[in-house]
Amino acid sequence: MAAKPVIIDCDPGVDDAIALFLALASPEHLDILAVTAVAGNVPLTLTQANARKICELAGRPDLSVYAGCPRPVLRPLVTAEDVHGRTGLDGIELPEPTMLLQQQHAVNFLIECLLNVRESVTLAMLGPLTNLAIAIIQQPQICQHINEVVLMGGAVTHGNITPSAEFNIYVDPHAAHVVFAAGVPLTMISLDVTNRVIATPERLQAIRALNTPVSAAAIGLLEYYGAFDMKRYGTAGPFLHDPCVIAYLLQPDLFTYRRAYVNVEITSELTMGRTVVDLWQRTNYLPNANVVDSINVEGFYQLLTQTLARF
Ligand code: RIB
Ligand code: CA
Repeated sequence: MAAKPVIIDCDPGVDDAIALFLALASPEHLDILAVTAVAGNVPLTLTQANARKICELAGRPDLSVYAGCPRPVLRPLVTAEDVHGRTGLDGIELPEPTMLLQQQHAVNFLIECLLNVRESVTLAMLGPLTNLAIAIIQQPQICQHINEVVLMGGAVTHGNITPSAEFNIYVDPHAAHVVFAAGVPLTMISLDVTNRVIATPERLQAIRALNTPVSAAAIGLLEYYGAFDMKRYGTAGPFLHDPCVIAYLLQPDLFTYRRAYVNVEITSELTMGRTVVDLWQRTNYLPNANVVDSINVEGFYQLLTQTLARF
């Protein structure tokens, strides 16, 4: 099969970095048209630079990286340095990127690219949905050229940034509301799935044993990033949230999903950013998303380790 055209929108961020490694090591499956950065885990000035650092470390300085929106649609930016460190990629030292940042704004790139593609494009969304929402508002026609939006975000049960909301959706709930209402094919990989994907010491050891610059960087990042989840949740390691999106694109049979109507809370401050998932058709709204509800965790880590071994 020909490689699937993909745009990766991200807020690196440690788990975003691991997701990028996974994607960049799979050129026969994923034709990465571009990487777009958004403010999220850390401010945009860092997420765009971090995206370039990861591309260079992965041997892809040829990739186009675009900077997008520096803040959410309405709310002030909330960041997560407590999880990812001040740089967003704490745990390793990477040189300043030498590959240039594209001058075009990521939103304008998304519009121009999607309006001119021959084959519809899959959007891998790893951070707040600001860039995509603004692009949809600015040029709704792009929706016809989106094969699928696969996003890490939301929660059917419990949140992480608040009791009811997951970080990516919480940071820009209005953007998420726009995306979920846009009518594009959408697959949501929520915390209920990604919180099962724990990088235990044994799984980290398998990656460490690859003994490459990329695997060493991944280990340094994950050992730093793991401290937060291990302390907060008592887990044996960090959750690998964003790599689940890329794994879904590479090996969808690792996952199962169910169709459901999903909407986003944008009124109540108590539950702001909650993804309200109508699993049992209690509303009259038609399903608008594939809500992933299971993952083969061992299969995920086999895919991750085998793919990282290709660097
Ligand atoms: O809630 C986890 C998500 O928020 C991940 O994408 C992580 O990188 C942060 O962006
Ligand atoms: Ca992210």
